[in-house]
Amino acid sequence: MLYIGIDLGTSAVKLLLMDETGQILHIVSKEYPLEFPHPGWNQQNPEDWLSAVEEGVPELLAGFDAAQVAGIGSGGQMHGLVVLDKDDNVIRPAILWNDGRTAKQVDYLNNVVGKEKLSQYTSNIAFAGFTAPKLLWMRENEPDLFAKIDKIMLPKDFINYKLTGVHCTDVSDASGMLLFDVKNKCWSKEMLDLCGVQESQMAQIFESYQPVGTLLPDMAKKLGLPETVVVAAGAGDNAAAAVGTGTVGEGACNISLGTSGTIFISSEKFGVDPQNALHSFAHADGNYHLMGCMLSAASCNKWLMEDIFQTEDYNAEQAPITADKLGKNHVFFLPYLMGERSPINDTDARGTFIGMTMDTTRADLTQAVLEGVAFGIRDSLEVARSLGIVIERSKICGGGAKSPLWKTICANVLNVTLEIVESEQGPGMGGAMLAMVADGTYPSVKAVCDKLVHVVDTVEPDPALAALYEARYQQFRNIYPACKALFPILNG
Ligand code: XUL
Repeated sequence: MLYIGIDLGTSAVKLLLMDETGQILHIVSKEYPLEFPHPGWNQQNPEDWLSAVEEGVPELLAGFDAAQVAGIGSGGQMHGLVVLDKDDNVIRPAILWNDGRTAKQVDYLNNVVGKEKLSQYTSNIAFAGFTAPKLLWMRENEPDLFAKIDKIMLPKDFINYKLTGVHCTDVSDASGMLLFDVKNKCWSKEMLDLCGVQESQMAQIFESYQPVGTLLPDMAKKLGLPETVVVAAGAGDNAAAAVGTGTVGEGACNISLGTSGTIFISSEKFGVDPQNALHSFAHADGNYHLMGCMLSAASCNKWLMEDIFQTEDYNAEQAPITADKLGKNHVFFLPYLMGERSPINDTDARGTFIGMTMDTTRADLTQAVLEGVAFGIRDSLEVARSLGIVIERSKICGGGAKSPLWKTICANVLNVTLEIVESEQGPGMGGAMLAMVADGTYPSVKAVCDKLVHVVDTVEPDPALAALYEARYQQFRNIYPACKALFPILNG
């Protein structure tokens, strides 16, 4: 049997065809544009996602027996606000997870409604990228459009709606809306009231591995698939990546170096960070997780390489960063190119190089960016450690994890053994695996992880290098507090 995993990302959708033994047979990627209507705003047209899926699936299936496809599952970029009117037209472009326009609404939620109440209702506080502040922003800035909203959904749920006709979501993705009572896995009446929306506008909630339906006949025809294909509820991309890397069970950890950078700590019990610096979300395996999310991770390196250095040869730029240079760079980089979410929650923060001298080289800047992202992940890891969580090993995935140098830097900055899994296709693979549970091929998410995910290598921290990085990290920690008050002034 065959399964399709959909990784609905920020720059592209990646479609993957896999059999039930975990063998990846084909991958197709389709890009779509991003709109930046103002600095710090980020939006995308949901119809572009759909067209990419509709074009990509037939390409993915070319040369394979489509009749063998039994299931589809998605891992989608989280938090994006997708709104449809009563005729199912998209009302406005989706406001994405890294959009910073809602600073005022976040301030209202956290400081007028109050963090304590938000945490009591949803187990989380407000961050600019979360969905509830975007609804408040729309109500305030686009009241006519707000009045037209019939259905509220998340990015991958828009695709699932178009595939099945079911207005559905899953617990992991719903967790990032700030409208969902994570502990009890239901919509929060208080939050819906606060945002002026009705439960009838919200999706039906599923566990990520549950089937939501089968393909609508027209859609099956368009994609070249049987109508019997089961569509799993799927998951937010981080929970899906956790499934794809086998990050399930108590204390299992996954780091993703994608456009965003996340540290995902799986838990068998519900738990909240009392400071709410880490998100407390439901996991795709039926349990829970804590997560820290940096808004720019591999995207910082992409920006430096492609926009600033005008090169696509990342390896050549990293080649001069030899082992003897590690832990000794006097240049630091704050990776806040889109503001920052975890743990500082500051939409005003900006990317910052500091510490340059006349002998600073291009390679020092590259190294500073790779290290700055690792230090940002360490900031969230420190919050987890302050809660008594012990992380000695972690999986790693995402585009950034292709760089051996970046993995070495991460292992030593975090002082954690990194486990490399056979396939780096985190969210797409996780999506396909959720579909295998949804159609009954595997009895649970744990079972499919045990069977399909294999660790093929590890990157161990070196005690001497980890000590050098420990000293660097303690220096790094001083930079943001010293710059914090400057950012709003510089941003005007
Ligand atoms: C997680 C988050 C990002 C996006 C990226 O909270 O906002 O990781 O899901 O697609």
